[in-house]
Amino acid sequence: MVEITVSDDCTACGFCAEVCPSLVFAEDAEANKFLPKAANRCIACGHCAAVCPVDAITVEGIEFSKLADDLKAQIADAPFPDWLKTRRSIRKYSEKPVSRQEIERVLSLAAFAPDAHNLRRTRFVVVNSKNQLAELEIEVQKNIETLFKSLRDKDKKAELQSRFGEKAVRIWRKLLPELRFVLSDAWREKIKFLLGAPAIVAAIAPDDELYAVSSAELACYQAMLVAHYYNLGSCWLGFFMIASAFSEKIASMLSLENNETVAGAFALGYPKYEYRKNIVRKLPINFI
Ligand SMILES: Cc1cc2nc3c(=O)[nH]c(=O)nc-3n(C[C@H](O)[C@H](O)[C@H](O)COP(=O)(O)O)c2cc1C
Ligand code: SF4
Ligand code: SF4
Repeated sequence: MVEITVSDDCTACGFCAEVCPSLVFAEDAEANKFLPKAANRCIACGHCAAVCPVDAITVEGIEFSKLADDLKAQIADAPFPDWLKTRRSIRKYSEKPVSRQEIERVLSLAAFAPDAHNLRRTRFVVVNSKNQLAELEIEVQKNIETLFKSLRDKDKKAELQSRFGEKAVRIWRKLLPELRFVLSDAWREKIKFLLGAPAIVAAIAPDDELYAVSSAELACYQAMLVAHYYNLGSCWLGFFMIASAFSEKIASMLSLENNETVAGAFALGYPKYEYRKNIVRKLPINFI
C-alpha cells in the first residue's frame, strides 16, 4: 500500500479529494483536515499533491519538481520538454464553456498525426450538448453494469468469449474489482464515467484496415496535447470505449457504420484546478 501523508498545513479545501481518481481522500472532522482513508486504492498518479495549494501532501515513491511561483507564466514559457510534463488527465472541469470553434481548432491539428498508409480514415464525433452527455452517461453506466454481471455469470461469460474472444474476457475479468468500484454509489456521485466534462470526443475508425485503430489513437493523443497547448484539459475515457463496444444506442448516437469502432475517446474542457507541480517519471529504456 502506498504511504500518503498530509501535514498540519492542510486547510481542508478538499481539492485533493476532488481530483483523486480513486477516492482515496475524505475529510476527517476530528483532525480538521483531509486524510487518505483508502490508500490501498492509490494508483500513484500524484494528482492530489500536485493540486494541493499549500503543498501538504506527500505520496510515497513519487517525486515532484519544485513549486512554481507564477505557474501560468511558467507553463506558457516552458521549453517543450518541461511543457510536456504539465499535461495531466483532467477529471474536474470548470463551468467555462468550450466553443465549437475551440474544439474544431484542437481537432484540426490532430490531422497532422502520423497515420498508417496515410489512409486518414479517422473521424471525430463530438458530443457537447448537456442532454446528450447525460444520455450517454446513463448508457455507459448501464453497459458497464451489464459487463460486470456478465463476467460473473458462467453462461454470459461464454457468450462474451464467443463474441470478443477469450483473451478479451480474461483481461476484462482482471478489471472486476475496478468495475465494482466504479459502479459504487460513491464513485458515480463524485466522478462519473464522462467526468461531467462539457464535451467528449470519440475517434471513430474502421476495424478492418491495418493500423486504422492505432492511427486514430495517435490522432487522439495529438488532439489532447493540442488541447493542453490551448489551456484545455482532457482525459482518456476508457470506460466509455468499453461500453461503446456493447451498446447499440451509443453506436447509433455516434452513427457508427458496421465496420467502424470507437478507437479512442477523451473528455475535453477547461480544468477546474491548477496543477502546481510536475511529477517526475521515467520509463525503462534498454539499448540492445
Ligand atoms: C487506455 C487508457 C484508458 C484510460 N481510461 C481512463 C478512464 O476511463 N477514466 C479516467 O479517469 N482516466 C482514464 N485514463 C487516464 C489514466 O488514468 C491516466 O493517464 C494515468 O492515471 C496517469 O495520469 P496522467 O495522465 O495525469 O499523467 C486512461 C488512460 C489510458 C491510457
Ligand atoms: S488539497 Fe491540501 S490543503 Fe486541500 S484538503 Fe487536500 S491536503 Fe488539505
Ligand atoms: S496519488 Fe493519485 S490515486 Fe493516489 S491519492 Fe493521490 S490522487 Fe489519489
